[in-house]
Order: sequence, then C-alpha cells, then structure tokens
Amino acid sequence: MSIENLPSEVKRRRTFAIIAHPDAGKTTLTEKLLLYGGAIQLAGMVKAKKDRKTATSDWMAMEKERGISISSAALQFEYKDHVLNLLDTPGHEDFSEDTYRTLMAADTGVMVLDAGKGVEPQTIKLFKVCRDREIPILTFINKMDRPTKDLFALLDEIEKVLGIAAIPLVWPLGTGPDFKGVYSLIDKKLYLFDKSPGGSKKASFQMTGVMDQTLDDNYDPDLVKKFRDDIELIEGGLGNFDKTDFLKGKCSPVFFGSAVNNFGIEIFLEHFLGLAPAPDHIPLSSGKFLDPVGSPFSAFVFKVQANMNKMHRDRIAFIRITSGVFERGIQAIHNRLDKPVKLASSFAFFGQDRNTVDIAYPGDIIGVINPGTFQIGDILSTGKAPDLRPLPVFAPEIFATLSCTDTLSLKGFKKGLEQLAEEGILHLFSSKSIGSGNPIVGAMGRLQFEVFQRRLLDEYKVETNLNALPYGISRWIRQEDISKLPSSANLVVDKNQNSALLFESEWDMNYFSKNYPEILLKEHPNLVV
Ligand code: G4P
Repeated sequence: MSIENLPSEVKRRRTFAIIAHPDAGKTTLTEKLLLYGGAIQLAGMVKAKKDRKTATSDWMAMEKERGISISSAALQFEYKDHVLNLLDTPGHEDFSEDTYRTLMAADTGVMVLDAGKGVEPQTIKLFKVCRDREIPILTFINKMDRPTKDLFALLDEIEKVLGIAAIPLVWPLGTGPDFKGVYSLIDKKLYLFDKSPGGSKKASFQMTGVMDQTLDDNYDPDLVKKFRDDIELIEGGLGNFDKTDFLKGKCSPVFFGSAVNNFGIEIFLEHFLGLAPAPDHIPLSSGKFLDPVGSPFSAFVFKVQANMNKMHRDRIAFIRITSGVFERGIQAIHNRLDKPVKLASSFAFFGQDRNTVDIAYPGDIIGVINPGTFQIGDILSTGKAPDLRPLPVFAPEIFATLSCTDTLSLKGFKKGLEQLAEEGILHLFSSKSIGSGNPIVGAMGRLQFEVFQRRLLDEYKVETNLNALPYGISRWIRQEDISKLPSSANLVVDKNQNSALLFESEWDMNYFSKNYPEILLKEHPNLVV
C-alpha cells in the first residue's frame, strides 16, 4: 500500500529551509506559512510557544531569555495537496554550524531579506552553503511596509554580493506606507492587500495589462506611473526567468511582501509549489542522483539532540529520508557500524510536542531514538547505502578549557560533555600540553559556549568554569605528520582521535606552513588528499 503510494508521495513533497539574517522575518514568515498550511490556528503561535508557561525545558527558558531559537525542528504541513517539510534553521550567527548542517537536509532554500537592509552577513554565509549544495533558492524580500532600499539597487546587490541573477516574478505596487499589493509578472494579476489587524489579502484582480485603467481610477497617479515605469524596465531588461537555471542554482526568483502583515505570502506559496523541486534530486558523491522511488529505504542523520524534553530524557537523531518508504519498526543497516538497527520509535516534533510517525516518505524528517549509536552524517538503509555527499565540518575558531567546579560531579560532567559534543554544537579536544588535562572545547561563536555550559547545568546538574584560550584557528593534520611536529606545536586530539593544531592567528598558521610545508593542514578532519 505504502509502496504503491511512493511515486505520488514523492511528487507532492517539498522540503525546504528558510535562510535569513536575524531579524529579517524568518520566524514571522514561518508562522504565516504554517497558518496557510493549517498547522497552527493563530498567527503568533510559533513565538508564543517559546513563552509558554508549560515550557518543559530550561533550554527553552534560555531561548526565551535570549530571544533566540537554539533548537532547530522540522515542521510538516499540508497545502493544496502538497506536503511541505520546513526545516527551522536557527538564525543566530553563533549557531552557524548547526544551521549549516540543517541545510544539508533541505532541497530548496528560501532566502528572506529585509527590504531596508538588503543582503546581510549571515545571509551571505548561509547562501554560500546553499550554493555549495547547488540547491535552488527563492528570494522573499520582506518588510515592504517599511522604508525600503531602492528595489533595483536591491536586486543589483543580490547579484553583486551573492553572484546570483535575481529575477522578480512579482513586483510591488508602492513601498513603505504606500505598499498596496504585488503584481504577478507571470499571471498578470494584481494582488491587493488590506492593512486590517492580522493582515490579509484583500482581493486580486486580473488586469488587461499594466496600462489597465483600473489602476488610474484607484491609485495615486505618481504611484501608478512609477509602477508602470518599473514594469517596463523589468520586462524590457531584466531577462526572462528560466526554471532550469533556477533549479541549477543559477538564478533566484524574487518575491516581495510583508510577513507580519501577511502581504504577499499566499502568492509566494503558490509559486513556491510550482518551482521548488520534489525530493527526487539528491546528488551523490559519484555525480549521479539518487532515485527516491526506485531505491530501497535510505536516510541520513543530520542532527542529534539530547534532552529534547525533560519528560522524555532521551536522545533523538533527526533523519532525513532520501529514498524508499519508512515504516515504523523497519529493520535497517547502520552503515558506519555495519550493524542492523530496528527503528522502533519514530516521531515528528512541533516545538516540544512529539507525535509518533508510522510512515514517512523521501523528503520527510523524523526523529528516532538515539541509543548513543547515531552520529551526524550516519547513513541508514535497507539496501546498499547510497554514496551521499558528506556533511560539512567546520574548523572551530574560538577555544576554551572547561572544568567542573565540584569533583563529585565528574561523572555527570563526562556524560554531559560526551552527549552534548555528540550533537555537534561544539568540538571536544584533549591535549597533553594545553589546559592542564582539562577538556578543550572549540566553537564558531561564544554563545555556543554559553549554551553548552547552561545545558550542562540544567540537564546534567554540573557547574563548570570556562577559561578562554588564545587560539583563533584550528587545522586537522594527518596521523603520519605527528612525528614531524616541533615541540612548540599546540597539538590537540578530537573525540574521534583525529589530531589537530591550534594557532593564535592566521599569520602564525602561515608561518608554520612556511617552515613545515610537508605538514598538510586540513579544514576538515576527513579531508582526503
Ligand atoms: P527572525 O526570525 O528572522 O529573527 O525575525 P522575526 O520574524 O522574529 O522578525 C523580527 C522583527 O521584525 C519582529 O519584530 C517582527 O514582528 C518584525 N517583522 C517581521 N516581518 C515584518 C514585516 O513585514 N514588516 C515589519 N514592519 N516588521 C516585520 P519585533 O518587534 O522584534 O518582535 P515582535 O514583538 O513584533 O514579535
């Protein structure tokens, strides 16, 4: 039954992630998409969840205090007979590594820009990951109800800074307080908005063309003139949108709207369904693509999380299904360990709520209980494992030693370190020469340390001291090069027994490379040269 449904289930799925610089409107857009999908009843719920009195973990309390989203969950909702899987990518810059990995599970990226700010630093970083993965990206220019940059300059900025052709598929009628609606350049319809509380679309009307008299009858002549001039420019010069180019990540269709007012979301969603690819295009290391219908069940772990909920003190591995049908209880092969594994408990999460999932298809994201055997990047399959491209690992840039204040808590300290490092939020190292035997932690940003310490305290009851180390760069090295190292080298060993060197600055690293050219410095522990 489920196998028969496989082709149609694949076809109707869209798995995507929203990428944005903090504050551009990612949460608000998510909320509005969920509202259309009927996954939530009232706008405001995604945020409200953070503030719920019943918040069951202190880690959520921290999200509330800091106003940031630390966890990333996948939400599933239906819209017009499509199943949408939305991966929530934490927006804070310090959580980049986790965010980057989450993007590995997405087939499409939705880039949200603040119309007043344009392309911001975090947008660039996240965009690059999408580009490396060659996933198509749609652009949603948000906050059109506020003063905006010049829109042509904004399109130019996208092209110049990100190196992708930005092609509008809709164009706004007015901006800021004059933002009245968006005109679809595809179906030649004008979608008008009403600034009622909560925000909604007012009406849409078919125009005979941009010269339609209705525009003159209803709007300020200057507004209409500017609109007509803009459309003429676009239709004359900006080039035609080519779906093949979009699917190859060469151009990005651009939409305009205001998430908080619910302007332009529905038209975006409609186009999204037609443009975003179904999960049938997973690139393999061989350069070929995985066939999700013709291949047996396969999935990969892209996120591991301990203590999702205090009620269920278990560790969850989030898997993205890449081919075949998942049925609860399925017997798969854990490829790294070359061992059979029965996936008896499988869940979907909405914030802190979890529901059992009995069946899932390619593109879907489910959480399975992790008895400590799943690591990020592991592949599970019932047949031969597909040669999926490896997930990226980033060399940490800040380091500290961590010690526990109470020797009686050592056991919890060790367990907490292991379990939390398993989630990949930070790197764990040990060293004979640095840190007097204390574990060394490495991260991309300071907030990761704070979260780590806070979680050790909340979830493992361990108070810790953090002492910053003066290093700013790390590089992994080959085992055979260890004997060639000078005694002054800052050698550390990661949790998988790979050796790495720490440097204070790029200058130090370059100086080292000049003196020891035979020692290869690798940004990724598994880099094969
Ligand atoms: P993020 O997840 O990308 O960090 O952004 P988020 O959605 O939380 O939005 C950041 C702020 O921008 C919020 O205001 C939100 O209401 C506002 N915002 C989102 N979309 C629009 C829009 O289209 N127009 C305008 N004018 N504002 C928008 P806040 O004051 O920080 O939070 P809140 O109290 O409104 O929730």
